[in-house]
Amino acid sequence: MAPLTLAFRSTSDHAEKWGAALAKLVPDLVFVPWQDVSDPAAIDAALCWRPPEGWLASLPNLRLVHSLGAGVDHVLADRRYPAHVPLVRLVDPLMTRAMTEFVAFQVLRLHLKEPAYRRQQRDRLWQQHFPPSAADRRVGILGVGEMGGAVAASLVALGFDVAGWSRTPKDQPGVACFAGDAALPDFLARSEILVCLLPLTPATEGILSAACFAQMPRGAGIINVGRGRHLVERDLLAALDSGQLSEAVLDVFPTEPLPEDHPFWTHDRIVVTPHVAALTNPATASLVVAENLRRLARGEPWPDRVDIASGY
Ligand SMILES: NC(=O)c1ccc[n+]([C@@H]2O[C@H](COP(=O)([O-])OP(=O)(O)OC[C@H]3O[C@@H](n4cnc5c(N)ncnc54)[C@H](OP(=O)(O)O)[C@@H]3O)[C@@H](O)[C@H]2O)c1
Repeated sequence: MAPLTLAFRSTSDHAEKWGAALAKLVPDLVFVPWQDVSDPAAIDAALCWRPPEGWLASLPNLRLVHSLGAGVDHVLADRRYPAHVPLVRLVDPLMTRAMTEFVAFQVLRLHLKEPAYRRQQRDRLWQQHFPPSAADRRVGILGVGEMGGAVAASLVALGFDVAGWSRTPKDQPGVACFAGDAALPDFLARSEILVCLLPLTPATEGILSAACFAQMPRGAGIINVGRGRHLVERDLLAALDSGQLSEAVLDVFPTEPLPEDHPFWTHDRIVVTPHVAALTNPATASLVVAENLRRLARGEPWPDRVDIASGY
């Protein structure tokens, strides 16, 4: 196999760790951090997170773009993305596992009224709330793909009454399936805790809006682990003010890091986490990337190739 040259570009992932991990797995690989690319024509593949507009288009012989995350909105935001180059996303079982832990933890927090007890403790208020049993708590997952499907299965295992919404119909044990735009109102009407695990595409941007919240049971909670732009921020604040929503857990934001003066930081009913639901870990993700590079070398297709037209 001819040696491959891989350009790496990210300001939030460690080039050194990635270079060392991939060197062990793909011995002939030439790993080039983006600052050291002296011959753009020599680059076969790019491994990146939020590449700046036009950078990928400046690599004339590119044959693969690999995302450093499960989502690819950060790549497709580049209006000059070379559409003929295959785009592959990162599907790492350990990231999926991390996501199931994060979401199960947050669903249990909302289900057991933990945020209310934190507020009560601050106010020295002794007041008991009796939650319904998990079997009577209806949780809805927007997006039942790689991550949403695993999250749904873990919530079913905890005993929750789980539904999922996707573009195409699913048949997952214990999960009520809702598919397509026409099924969204019925899905929302039963979602007391709503988890967003959609990819960010033109069809899903702004889906967590006033119209969505109004269709949910009064006092529902939301957990956004998809992307910041799924949420209409002012609509969330209004829904929390009015009591239509009771709590929100937000892991992703349109601008990251979340600006210091953002009202979410100090909001009583919002939990902010710094995009940590499922972090990319080079130790395990490099195994996935290495296999996808071998596929490139062998001319084989990639199971996790993105459909650029649908944006995920
Ligand atoms: N916070 C974090 O740390 C973190 C970490 C990793 C990922 N994420 C986010 O999680 C997202 C999901 O990851 P994944 O690996 O589970 O993606 P995935 O396997 O591609 O699944 C996406 C799901 O969303 C559904 N969907 C897409 N567009 C839709 C639409 N217009 N209407 C209804 N359903 C739609 C898909 O439906 P079909 O099954 O019918 O195609 C699929 O079920 C990523 O894109 C990323 O934004 C966040």
